[in-house]
Amino acid sequence: MARRHWIGAAWLCLLALGLQELGIARGEPSAIIVFGDSTVDTGTNFYSPATPFNFQANRYPYGFKGFQGQATGRFTEGRVIIDFIAEYAGFPVVESYAKPDASLAQGANFGSGGAGALDDTNEGMVTPLSKQLENFADFCGNVSKERNLVEYEEFLSNAVYLISIGSNDYLSGYFSHPHLQQAFTPEQFVTLVVSNITKAIEVLHSKGARKIVMFGVGPLGCLPPLRIVNGSGGCHEPATALGQAHNYALGLAIQRLRQIHPDSIIVRAHFYDFFEERQNNFGAYGFKEPAQACCGAGPFHGRGHCGIESVDPELSYELCEEPSSHVWWDPYHPSERVHEQYAQALWRGNATVIEPVNLEQLFHSSSPSGRMENPGTPSFAFPEMI
Ligand SMILES: *[C@@H]1O[C@H](CO)[C@@H](O)[C@H](O)[C@H]1NC(C)=O
Ligand SMILES: *[C@@H]1O[C@H](CO)[C@@H](O)[C@H](O)[C@H]1NC(C)=O
Ligand SMILES: *[C@@H]1O[C@H](CO)[C@@H](O)[C@H](O)[C@H]1NC(C)=O
Ligand SMILES: *[C@@H]1O[C@H](CO)[C@@H](O)[C@H](O)[C@H]1NC(C)=O
Repeated sequence: MARRHWIGAAWLCLLALGLQELGIARGEPSAIIVFGDSTVDTGTNFYSPATPFNFQANRYPYGFKGFQGQATGRFTEGRVIIDFIAEYAGFPVVESYAKPDASLAQGANFGSGGAGALDDTNEGMVTPLSKQLENFADFCGNVSKERNLVEYEEFLSNAVYLISIGSNDYLSGYFSHPHLQQAFTPEQFVTLVVSNITKAIEVLHSKGARKIVMFGVGPLGCLPPLRIVNGSGGCHEPATALGQAHNYALGLAIQRLRQIHPDSIIVRAHFYDFFEERQNNFGAYGFKEPAQACCGAGPFHGRGHCGIESVDPELSYELCEEPSSHVWWDPYHPSERVHEQYAQALWRGNATVIEPVNLEQLFHSSSPSGRMENPGTPSFAFPEMI
């Protein structure tokens, strides 16, 4: 028995040497694993037939400027942030786990448009974070069948996990349900949401995740429908304040997680300032329209359903000529250009947008230190960052 172990260990050791000779450093990223909402969904709702139409992006004009020229379930006119990150990392498209023939060797996307950290958020219509984690457990089961234990653990610890969730808990949850506002103060509700995100990160860690990126939320009150609520065209301050409170509480939770898990790199991606800067100084980033969505109905195109005709002319959607000149694609979702600029900022940006390391460093670091192991040369050229 002991002899078999020794031989096994020696063999692994040789294998590791062999890999290093090939220039493949340990810590090389193995996969991109995604959880969250419409900011990252690459087809989960699309392939979940029971999803109601207002939580699907399965019709023109969704995706009409995208790499396939047709709707793919992404909530923009084209690609979403995960597509750009995968490209920069040299990975294939991260397909939804719900896609029947998905190729999942280098990643899986569990994100679902409309999802929240709380099960009650858009309940029964979307795949909540808790169910996304169950699906991830299934995925792990499949991954483990194809690998021995060492390979399995390395696959999970060298994967990069991205989580973008929270907005829907406030917009479709707290603000849409007076009973929640009666039952919880804003502070209590934020604590509920953030503690469930913390739980999710703990679940991932317990399964072997060591490189985790947690996204904050943006200025929620600047969504086109909330500008309508404001009445004078500005952002709806109470929603924005709740988003800020969320980001603050999330920051504290992440600090604690980092102390508890020094074996991991837990990265925080800030979205609030990045997005606000594009709303305020839109011209400097290539946008012409910061407030009105490209696709929608009514004031700021904050009403109706993009791509769905309505008998009520006030709810019949209009489509702008050039989505990339708009910050907002539809009433609830930023345009592809925002996704692309954010992906660029996360990939190579500084601590104002992502810390303690950026995505380029994270992908090339060997956990847990976050040090650059093998920066290499990027396999793509950035367009000039505007
Ligand atoms: C929080 O998440 C867990 C699973 O991670 C889930 O079981 C639980 O129901 C969630 N809590 C709420 C209030 O939604
Ligand atoms: C994962 O395994 C389950 C059974 O354990 C199977 O039904 C499913 O098709 C597998 N999924 C993939 C993508 O291999
Ligand atoms: C509405 O927007 C204006 C700016 O145009 C702002 O001063 C005001 O505080 C906002 N009101 C609310 C309730 O958010
Ligand atoms: C961080 O990046 C932003 C945006 O590119 C830039 O304005 C800022 O000066 C940078 N800060 C530092 C400390 O390098």
